[in-house]
Amino acid sequence: MIVLGIESSCDETAAAIVRDGKICSNVIASQIEIHSPFGGVVPEIASRKHMEAIYPVIKQALSEADIIIKDVEGIAVTCGPGLIGSLLIGLSTAKSLAFALDIPFVGVNHLEGHIAAAFLSGKIPDIPFMALVVSGGHTSIYLVKNFDEYQLIGQTRDDAAGEAFDKAAKLLKLGYPGGVVIDRLARSGNPSAVSFPRAMRDSMDFSFSGLKTSLLTMVKKRGREFQNEELPDIVASYQEAIVDTLVEKTIKAAHENHIPQIVVCGGVAANSSLRERFARETALKQMELFIPPTILCTDNAAMIAARGEMMLKNGSRSGMDLNAVSRWPLS
Ligand code: KG4
Ligand code: ZN
Repeated sequence: MIVLGIESSCDETAAAIVRDGKICSNVIASQIEIHSPFGGVVPEIASRKHMEAIYPVIKQALSEADIIIKDVEGIAVTCGPGLIGSLLIGLSTAKSLAFALDIPFVGVNHLEGHIAAAFLSGKIPDIPFMALVVSGGHTSIYLVKNFDEYQLIGQTRDDAAGEAFDKAAKLLKLGYPGGVVIDRLARSGNPSAVSFPRAMRDSMDFSFSGLKTSLLTMVKKRGREFQNEELPDIVASYQEAIVDTLVEKTIKAAHENHIPQIVVCGGVAANSSLRERFARETALKQMELFIPPTILCTDNAAMIAARGEMMLKNGSRSGMDLNAVSRWPLS
């Protein structure tokens, strides 16, 4: 089946063509440079930019897949969770195309899309499996009992891990989005140089606000004595605290539930230290790791098309009355 995926939940306008679980094209127009001076996504600007980018991005996805719009057999579109104004651009585009072409469309949960990104390598984990969804807005561990049945094992009580990266980068004036910058800078730092707290060790839930406050307190205390040469050590230690927590709890959840397969997905799964640590720990525990290539970790439409194709093949159809939702928990 040839599926057009559309994603516009935050600051990336994306379109992709997926055919029978394989990516034919994956086009992403990022708004990072536009939002960067504000240190975060400005919803009003994001919606306007999605409107400008959506058709060129779809056209490019079709051309890179070497097909025309009439070849598309189904459309998958993110309809939540995310910024309402942004989601509506993708959703109304999907509806119009589906209506004009007289083909089915399905609304896809963005988080389910992140999980489905791990299937695009051609190998799908056996049900049940454990999934860590870790992005700018979410940090949750799910026991995936079926592709539409999720048991929440743990989630953040405050900031998401991606938010912890972004806020630290903002505080240290490193730029936006913080995850990528910190990842790069941390490579030349010592992760044991600064002792940052690891919160809620006895729980499956996460908390990253204490970590952020600890960094803030440190920066304030140092004041003007703060040296740029110290930055790699500081960010490497900060990153280590996040990585430790994410890996430890996910492996524990899999171990306690006798689940040998783990999916790690979402923007933060692009982090090089997190990827290395998960690879090492799962190998040690004889577990199997499914982690998408970095381009499929951050927001993209191939993951939406991948999940949408599964839904469409199962007979799932959305109606023209489908609405966008800002909150849409998986469990
Ligand atoms: O999945 P995503 O693209 O959007 C959401 O659904 O939120 O995730 C974006 C988040 C941002 O917080 C960004 O800083 C983080 O993922 N991120 C990273 C890396 N690349 C992106 N965090 C750590 N290391 C990275 N290499
Ligand atoms: Zn995302």
